[in-house]
Amino acid sequence: MNKGQKLLKKAKKIIPGGNQLFSKRAELFLPELWPTYYKRAKGCEIWDMENNKYFDFAGMGVTTAILGYADKDVNQAVTKAINNASMGTLNSYEEVDLAEELLNIHKWADQVKFARTGGEACSIAIRIARAATQKEKVLFCGYHGWHDWYLSTNINSNSLDTQLLSGLKAKGIPRGLKNTAIPFEYNNLNSFKKKVNKYKNNIAAIMMEPVRSTLPKKGFLEFIQKTAKKIGAVFIIDEITSGFRENLGGIHLKYKIKPDMAVLSKAMSNGYPSSAIIGTRDVMDEAQDSFISSCMWTERIGFVSALATIKKFKRLSLQKKLIDHGQRIKKGWSQISKSTDVDISIAGIDPIPQFNFKKNHLEKSTYLNQEMLKRGYLTNTRLGTTYAYNSNIINGYLDNLYEVFNQIKDFEKKNIKLPLKGKVRHETFKRLV
Ligand SMILES: Cc1ncc(COP(=O)(O)O)c(C=O)c1O
Repeated sequence: MNKGQKLLKKAKKIIPGGNQLFSKRAELFLPELWPTYYKRAKGCEIWDMENNKYFDFAGMGVTTAILGYADKDVNQAVTKAINNASMGTLNSYEEVDLAEELLNIHKWADQVKFARTGGEACSIAIRIARAATQKEKVLFCGYHGWHDWYLSTNINSNSLDTQLLSGLKAKGIPRGLKNTAIPFEYNNLNSFKKKVNKYKNNIAAIMMEPVRSTLPKKGFLEFIQKTAKKIGAVFIIDEITSGFRENLGGIHLKYKIKPDMAVLSKAMSNGYPSSAIIGTRDVMDEAQDSFISSCMWTERIGFVSALATIKKFKRLSLQKKLIDHGQRIKKGWSQISKSTDVDISIAGIDPIPQFNFKKNHLEKSTYLNQEMLKRGYLTNTRLGTTYAYNSNIINGYLDNLYEVFNQIKDFEKKNIKLPLKGKVRHETFKRLV
């Protein structure tokens, strides 16, 4: 058993579920063998507890580190902030600078609030929307975090199975929230219209990810924007995963969508905790009548890291690089699949590409992670591109991937089960033993 797995065993006894984020569970990648913990990381390289070095093609910190791990310029700004005290009785002046910067990027917005994580930014947006409209229901599409308002969807159903994550239970969620959060299907206007007709007099907010694994059909986002206006609901775009990757700011700018609010996090600060809720004055100002307040939302690192990250995005024209890398990776996957005859389907926006094996996805992707790990790569079938990649690194990854696909094909041809050293990886949320 590797050192990381030994530590995980201990962690599971004293930390329920072993860690704080579902997406970082070792069981989702390679049960019993995943290195699980890291000592340090730089660029796109990461060192485990035994000092083994890997290239990270497994998401780069759940797609946060788009400049690369331990970015010199962001770290310099953060170090300065720490040395000047990251917490004070007075406020960090940088929050005003960051508010101005975000409003400058998103010209439709007038005001900003800050938090530190994506889920809490979503909750804040929903609270403000309910305060502004005096209505109750939320229509949504996509993943929006762990909070009660969202998980209440599953009180009487498994509707969240149709969104990003299946297997989520509404355990611990007050039954009184039943029927307050109602999902609709992405790119399915009929599904959306049905829900609007049923609840239209009491819809406070329509919250959605503008894009996840598939691109929006022509007119889909525009129709939702128009409907929100018509029924007096606050239209909230969740840019926590999509923001800052294809363009500076939310991807809704690229699609020329004008929401009433948007939430940003993740890539905005290259992995330091920071999130923002931006919106029009008439909606955002309602936040003043609702108690929304937290000590740690005022600490300096959140603002400074985002300012330094955005400054560097501008200097490097970074988003073009992220798209180029993603396109190169997608093209490589497609060529490998064709030449080895192992069928896959490819999806995702270019900076967050993903593929699925058409047959036995879980077994094959577990084997892939197992073999790529031996070759010095952390892999996942969904990844986030980073400025720290270059052609050599991507080619090395694709060359190794090609060899593993060939092995998969050979086993398949001979009708031999893939030789997994541990269990098949998990796909859905479940309790861990
Ligand atoms: C679209 C979207 N919304 C909300 C969240 C929740 O963010 P966090 O994990 O920071 O609470 C995520 C996280 O992946 C996300 O992708």
